[in-house]
Amino acid sequence: MVEPTLKKQRTGNSLAQLKATGTTVVADTGDFEAIAKYAPQDATTNPSLILAAARKEGYQALIDRAVEYGRSRDGSVEQQTEAAVDRLLVEFGKEILKVVPGRVSTEVDARLSFDKDATVRKALEIISLYEQQGVSKDRVLIKIASTWEGIQAARELESQHGIHVNCTLLFSFCQAVAAAEAGVTLISPFVGRILDWYKASTGKTYSGDEDPGVLSVRRIYNYFKKHDYPTIVMGASFRNLDEIKALAGVDFLTISPALLEQLMTSADPVPQVLDPASAKAQGDDKVSYVEDEPAFRFALNDDAMATEKLAEGIRKFSEDIVTLFAMVEERIRA
Ligand SMILES: *[C@@H]1O[C@H](CO)[C@@H](O)[C@H](O)[C@H]1NC(C)=O
Repeated sequence: MVEPTLKKQRTGNSLAQLKATGTTVVADTGDFEAIAKYAPQDATTNPSLILAAARKEGYQALIDRAVEYGRSRDGSVEQQTEAAVDRLLVEFGKEILKVVPGRVSTEVDARLSFDKDATVRKALEIISLYEQQGVSKDRVLIKIASTWEGIQAARELESQHGIHVNCTLLFSFCQAVAAAEAGVTLISPFVGRILDWYKASTGKTYSGDEDPGVLSVRRIYNYFKKHDYPTIVMGASFRNLDEIKALAGVDFLTISPALLEQLMTSADPVPQVLDPASAKAQGDDKVSYVEDEPAFRFALNDDAMATEKLAEGIRKFSEDIVTLFAMVEERIRA
């Protein structure tokens, strides 16, 4: 696929070339000034990005609105805090939607990662808050950890409520297969975190084509295209430009402002690596986890990297949401 792509004689910086391979680029930041600068299609927000942004002067009005909303609710301080946090996520999402043409991802409280019904309930609450603010559910992706329960919640949200889901903390093929079978709109497999695990456990270094994170995403992309799953594959969490270039042509990539900056200031060629036609030839044969929780759990458990990274990711997201709750609760009480 390198040949025909090079013949097109792409011009422009590496970011423009990457977009020309058909990949949609998303900014991995909750800071809307940064988002406006890189003009991505979509953007995401999560508790840690919000915590970082909330320390900046410009965002105080959003926090004030969320706190005021929380206080206006009946119930205990804990319930008011929860309402204010939900509203804060939505306030940030709304701001982001002013500067991106596509969708914003909003994360469900990671402490609900093993509770399907609670995840569905929280997602419905967030969507209803967006709708109260005049934002259609079509512009929102609910971000859910790719546990068995999370994926089943995603299935229900997509099929019964027409709510779009972004399955996150996705490190393995079995999680991707289950998400596609659940009819999830988008999955965001992590590339850099997979590389981190392999580097730490083998002591080796890996470059573009051997990078286990890159190989994981390529396998998932090829499989989805081969079996005609419409679920969008969005590579996330990158450690360097090589990982990004090694996935040129994948549906979506979400990239940090620092790496976006490097792409913009580089003129290096970005040839196409992935495309639907070669995917059809390379994809794995079909497997299924529909109504087979034991098989899913066994496959996930069999992958030490995915098991550890999923657990660690949920712990980290949970810590962040706890910190966000503490900050908001302090302001509710003030
Ligand atoms: C989906 O979630 C990931 C984080 O897991 C995020 O990086 C990405 O930007 C989200 N995708 C979209 C389209 O919002």
